[in-house]
Amino acid sequence: MTIIPPVRISVIGCGYLGAVHAASLAKLGHQVIGVDVDPVRLAALEAGRAPFFEPGFDTLLAEVSATGRLRFTGSMAEIADCELHFLCVGTPQKPGSGEADLSYVDAAVRALRDILASPDIASAVVAGKSTVPVGTAERLADFFADSGANVALVWNPEFLREGFAVQDTLEPDRIVYGLAPGEAGRRGAAALDEAYAPILHRGTPKIETDWATAELVKVAANSFLATKISFINAMSEVCDATGGDVLALARAIGLDERIGPKFLRAGVGFGGGCLPKDIRAFAARATALGASGVAALLTPVDAVNRRARDRMVDLIAESVGWVVSPGSVGQSQSAEGNHPSEAGLQPESNPPRLAVLGAAFKPDSDDTRDSPALDVARRLAALGADVHVYDPAAGSIVSRLTPELTVAQSLSEAAEGAQALIVLTEWREFIDLDPDSVTPLVARRVMIDGRSALPAARWRDAGWDFRGPGRP
Ligand SMILES: NC(=O)c1ccc[n+]([C@@H]2O[C@H](COP(=O)([O-])OP(=O)(O)OC[C@H]3O[C@@H](n4cnc5c(N)ncnc54)[C@H](O)[C@@H]3O)[C@@H](O)[C@H]2O)c1
Repeated sequence: MTIIPPVRISVIGCGYLGAVHAASLAKLGHQVIGVDVDPVRLAALEAGRAPFFEPGFDTLLAEVSATGRLRFTGSMAEIADCELHFLCVGTPQKPGSGEADLSYVDAAVRALRDILASPDIASAVVAGKSTVPVGTAERLADFFADSGANVALVWNPEFLREGFAVQDTLEPDRIVYGLAPGEAGRRGAAALDEAYAPILHRGTPKIETDWATAELVKVAANSFLATKISFINAMSEVCDATGGDVLALARAIGLDERIGPKFLRAGVGFGGGCLPKDIRAFAARATALGASGVAALLTPVDAVNRRARDRMVDLIAESVGWVVSPGSVGQSQSAEGNHPSEAGLQPESNPPRLAVLGAAFKPDSDDTRDSPALDVARRLAALGADVHVYDPAAGSIVSRLTPELTVAQSLSEAAEGAQALIVLTEWREFIDLDPDSVTPLVARRVMIDGRSALPAARWRDAGWDFRGPGRP
């Protein structure tokens, strides 16, 4: 067995990425302090409770908290003796622009600089994990250098998927180091090699590169995934127009190993705290650098994705015979195109009672940031529908953020009297749902599968009108 010397590590920003990263590093044997500025998140973490829903995270947190290797604080002063600092703060979209808002990164780095510039600290390694525009690492390295702090800066992008965050952090499919030239690069790589030693010893591929490439790897990966999803949603439109079956199409093209089967489920599109803002920030940054091909590719990807939400609203209205026409409510975020809902919809007939199943942007998460499910539910409510939302994990978040929606405590409660069940997040509970168990509850047997996840034949055999984008 290899003995790994523990590293004293700080993790700055303890959200979906940082909290799991901190606990995982403690699990690997290191001494870890997590820092955050959000008192609610901190209180939960200090009490050993996960501040969000993430499978396996509660157990991991309890396990490592008991070892004494992990603690959380609101005070940067407490991380002064750490050798390695991970930056994990948010980089949301700037309001009114596609660009990334780097104010959280800059604030965290300023606070860290004040500590690391102290004459008592000989040197430190700072590893950026937040998703940032290319060029950020170089700017931050200059900032540390100007302060006199002896910092080796590494960019170490994170690829975890919410819902699999613990597994992805402890068993990543690759690790990328973006390194400074020369001695600082070697020092940064050595610190990360120590931190990730048990993972690297398993043979996990490690890619050492420069800062710019490491920053680009992350946004390039997300851009590719987003493009794949919008591609299949564009195919679903043409299937709708021709009677084709997008599921069969996806299966057939996915068997080509150059294409692969994943991320080819037609539906309500991508959302969450990463893909939408990352492709917009990438397009904005690349355009500023004169690389206009990126925006030429990703702007339509974004538009097709927004259009998937519009099409979902239309499909739902049509499925329940609810007549809506171009008007002033239900305005789409998309400005272009001639789809009815892109010009806004106006209800002309009795609004239905609808059961929306799912609110989180993906299953096994309570994250509703830019969630397609929640967006569609909101739009249906804005059109006057009586929308009852059930999500196995995000219910309390939905109640807080969207008082216009009725939050059901169970699937049955949502289904009671509904004119349609609409699956917008593919939780296992919805995929496995027995049609016969809900038939006595609903007003009409209409199932709309917004994620291409349910077994259509099972629902049709039970006498349900089963629909979905691109499904005959
Ligand atoms: N969530 C994911 O699945 C995921 C995956 C890969 C990469 N990322 C990237 O990681 C970064 C963080 O994402 P997230 O989903 O964890 O965001 P998040 O909003 O859940 O967490 C960010 C945390 O940083 C804290 N914070 C802000 N300013 C701070 C400061 N000055 N000092 C200390 N803490 C501070 C916030 O209070 C918050 O808890 C983003 O750049 C994101 O794009 C996220």
